[in-house]
Amino acid sequence: MRVPARGQAGGKVILLGEHVVVYDRPALASGLPLGLAVELRPGPGPAVYGEGGVVVEDARPAAVLERAATLFGLDPAAIVAEVRTQLPPGRGLGSSAALVVAMLRACAAAAGRRVQRDDELALGRQLEAMFHGTPSGIDPAAAALGGCFRFVRGEPPALTPIRLAAALPLVVAFGDRPRSTQATVAAVRERWLADRRGCERLFDAVEALVARGVCALERGDLGALGACFAENQAVLDELGVSTPEIGGLVARARAAGAFGAKLTGGGGGGAVIAVGPDAPALAAALARDGVRAFVVELRSVQPEAG
Ligand code: PMV
Repeated sequence: MRVPARGQAGGKVILLGEHVVVYDRPALASGLPLGLAVELRPGPGPAVYGEGGVVVEDARPAAVLERAATLFGLDPAAIVAEVRTQLPPGRGLGSSAALVVAMLRACAAAAGRRVQRDDELALGRQLEAMFHGTPSGIDPAAAALGGCFRFVRGEPPALTPIRLAAALPLVVAFGDRPRSTQATVAAVRERWLADRRGCERLFDAVEALVARGVCALERGDLGALGACFAENQAVLDELGVSTPEIGGLVARARAAGAFGAKLTGGGGGGAVIAVGPDAPALAAALARDGVRAFVVELRSVQPEAG
């Protein structure tokens, strides 16, 4: 085993199409330049620690380490992992998928190998299911690809990288409410079972927004992207996955000059994303208003290193 071995991966944002992606509709997402790093060392394992050796109470990261190590022919009983993260957990920014992909990369490095992107995508999907039951797989795809892409779920999912006209400055803002993606996914399912026709109409509308969003990204048209955000937020509201807190954050972003804003991820709390003519000024205006907000620059997917 080659130790210490390191792996890192980014979080994600869903730009358009969360929830409808579960019903085989397309979504638009991106990996984040913000992420999470794993360092493996010899020790009594499989064990996972936070920064500075803080014990991780959640048993799932150690289970991920065990599976990932075994996949690469390593002995999990002899490995400990330290995880350092820039991603706030539980905010819909894909911290569990980033952990899974970073762990795969670290274990591959410890075995003297490199994971191919296709394997990373497939294994990432398998391991992420340890956190989320039956997710669409969009989070590990974002962690593996790192840039903007269109996604349709499937085995394997259909992934279309988007060539951005320019790096996209996106404002991410947080509320205080914890959220449960499982609960909102179940609530949408109930609604769909009760009114398939009505829900499918909403899903059609989001599918059209995703097509418009792709064009807006390729043209670098932030105004058009913001309009898509606003329309998607209205649908998410109608599906019942927005909250008064999210609605308030969206309204504050609009008042601070955003072209459009929406929740990102499962909803029921979590993060809001916004685009505007001047992202740093927008984030600063939100911060003055007492909202935790920062700017991330989204990029095109980079070709796989040879
Ligand atoms: O809450 P997150 O960031 O895990 O995103 C969930 C996205 C959904 O479309 C609601 C569910 C899924 O599996 O794609």
